[in-house]
Amino acid sequence: MGDKPVDISKPLLFEVAWEVANKVGGIYTVIKSKAPVTCNEYGERYCLIGPLSYKTAPMEVEAVTKPQSEAMRNTLDNLTQRGIKFLYGRWLIEGAPHVLLLDVSSANHRMNEWKSDLWNTAGIPSPPGDKETNEAIVFGYLVAWFLGEFMHQQQHVQSLPQSEVDEHHPASTRPAIIAHFHEWLAGVALVLLRNRGLDIATIFTTHATLLGRYLCAGDVDFYNNLKYFDVDAEAGQRGIYHRYCIERAATHCADVFTTVSHITAYEAEWLLKRKPDGVTPNGLNVVKFSALHEFQNLHAKAKEKIHEFTRGHFYGYNDFDLDNTLYFFTAGRYEFRNKGVDMFIESMARLNAQLKHINSPITVVAFIIMPATTHSFTVDALKGQAVMKQLKESVAEIQNSIGNRIFENAARGKIPESTSLVSDQDFVLLKRRIFALKRDSLPPVVTHNMADDAADPILSRIRDVKLFNAPEDRVKMIFHPEFLSSNNPLLGLDYEEFLRGCHLGVFPSYYEPWGYTPAECTVMGVPSITTNLSGFGCFMDEMISHPSDYGIYIVDRRLKSVEESCQQLADCMMEFCQKSRRQRINQRNRTERLSDLLDWKRMGLEYVKARWVAIRRKWPQLVASPNHSGADELQYGYESDAASGLQRDDLTNLKYHQKVPRPQSAPGSPRSRERDEIEEEQDRATGLFESGDGERFDAAELIEGLKALGVKGTSESYV
Ligand code: UDP
Ligand code: G6P
Ligand code: GLC
Repeated sequence: MGDKPVDISKPLLFEVAWEVANKVGGIYTVIKSKAPVTCNEYGERYCLIGPLSYKTAPMEVEAVTKPQSEAMRNTLDNLTQRGIKFLYGRWLIEGAPHVLLLDVSSANHRMNEWKSDLWNTAGIPSPPGDKETNEAIVFGYLVAWFLGEFMHQQQHVQSLPQSEVDEHHPASTRPAIIAHFHEWLAGVALVLLRNRGLDIATIFTTHATLLGRYLCAGDVDFYNNLKYFDVDAEAGQRGIYHRYCIERAATHCADVFTTVSHITAYEAEWLLKRKPDGVTPNGLNVVKFSALHEFQNLHAKAKEKIHEFTRGHFYGYNDFDLDNTLYFFTAGRYEFRNKGVDMFIESMARLNAQLKHINSPITVVAFIIMPATTHSFTVDALKGQAVMKQLKESVAEIQNSIGNRIFENAARGKIPESTSLVSDQDFVLLKRRIFALKRDSLPPVVTHNMADDAADPILSRIRDVKLFNAPEDRVKMIFHPEFLSSNNPLLGLDYEEFLRGCHLGVFPSYYEPWGYTPAECTVMGVPSITTNLSGFGCFMDEMISHPSDYGIYIVDRRLKSVEESCQQLADCMMEFCQKSRRQRINQRNRTERLSDLLDWKRMGLEYVKARWVAIRRKWPQLVASPNHSGADELQYGYESDAASGLQRDDLTNLKYHQKVPRPQSAPGSPRSRERDEIEEEQDRATGLFESGDGERFDAAELIEGLKALGVKGTSESYV
């Protein structure tokens, strides 16, 4: 490449992922929620690259036709001249980063040429007919083409302080480029950059391993056999050898390789055969309300909306008290075993038996939100909402006519007879609506017509355990096989609002490199159950001495049998059902306090370190100084297990030194429900109850306290 020397003082950052402005699962959440802190650090020097989906992109991105940076302008012109379509602009999220979405289909005519090139230059095979891999390859070649061309343009731009990018760099140098790739679907470009010897510092972050996901989804004792899998043979047997080759090649070509958790680092070491250089755990963009209790109010409001759905769904069987109803849920991509839905259903059946046994007044409505192939909503589910809506409208009509009657009488100076307030007509209308609430069948367990009802694993398991929403059941099941949205005619709430309205998130995953769903619960102050096989669960276990005090329950799926783990989960839910309202409110307050631990402002530091190490490894001569010796890498936890206190060859040993202490307000011994209820009543009388927040302290204090204690987070985040 040309002759301009590299300037590492203000590098450019390109972050490449299949889920940029393209929602599939958690990687979208990583990229989107991290954007504000990355924009803060890189400003105009940050650009995300993903595939162009014509369906969603117009809602996500605002086009920019004339980029400020000359190198970018020339590069895009070059792509256009060669027939490549793309959308360049600002992603409409906080931070508004630059984004380049490449239209993979506009380069499909070059697919075969590129596939054979990948085989000839990297020895990576790609059979015909695997659409996902074909797209990943074309996308990879486009990204590598773009980056190569961009570097070429960098060599030629004159000193043009037209944009921030150009401003920082005199024409005699070119800014260093860091390219950060997420997951195997974005991995092809990384291999090409290495093969072509492009002078770009690269990072590869894996959010799961292909083999891990496939092996766990089958009936394999994964964690006890990790060291012994014949990886090539296993990948071959599952028809993913070519994908595995891309993933492994990307892993080995990157200057820096990271995973989202220690548990996945351990897995990657054995399955991808490279020990990760560091861990870049996932954070969230934590929103703090100015009023401390706002999140509690939001819970109450969102719960009221879920109540509305419940009234409709259970019409005709509305014989349970909504004030004594708890909403539990699980959600995510439909991976039956990996996401622990098998355990979720089995434990719900046990919870049902336990609640019935003690004659509990509590009813649990358990939601499963997991997209599956469906035809439409069921008529029954829609009818439930319709009859309830009609009833509501009729009652409003009657209310209105009663009001009119009172007014007419009062205007003539009369006090109306209470018996004359409801007319015969009103009674007839009311009776008709009440008759419409009768139904012959039990409330459905699924809200949609499934494409394959008989073989669907979730429905089959619900049938096995006979959770059919019978009146005597204390646990009611609702499988909603579609992600939530506020336009939904049944459950008209966005996922975030739904989550706020629930009482407990239940995520008993078997394979979960991180697991955003419980993390999202935490920052919204909703307690959740996770496992010690999820990256998030292990992270919280490392950070907090008694996670359950803070509403983070961690089921042991590592050292216990499936039977024992199911029982532990059921017992944990049972314990939660026995909490009083006051205890639930207090627990939500404690949960919400943990949100600063998960804030990107803190977690993002791991990305900063990874980028720094990538630069150091790519251009050691530019950073070689007494202050920039290899000791930096040790300080960052890179290249040194001993330094980070992590024993990678023993899963049970992923421990750190000091933890978040128990909350000061944690009750030393179990309190009786009755006593809490009396106190609750007293609080109501004195107006204290609604806050439920007497023990709250500023979350920043918690972090300060941790620092004072010398608590070190994953990869030493606190220092
Ligand atoms: N999610 C969503 N709508 C839903 C249910 C889930 O947007 O109705 C999102 C959720 O907010 C989370 C992501 O799906 O960010 C799932 O990420 P996770 O890391 O838990 O699992 P993955 O799917 O990546 O394995
Ligand atoms: C929040 C609200 C309270 C409400 C409570 C219900 O804390 O601020 O007004 O009473 O939620 O809690 P629950 O756990 O019963 O849904
Ligand atoms: C993957 C993992 C999930 C993780 C997400 C984001 O999809 O399955 O556990 O939270 O990536 O890193």
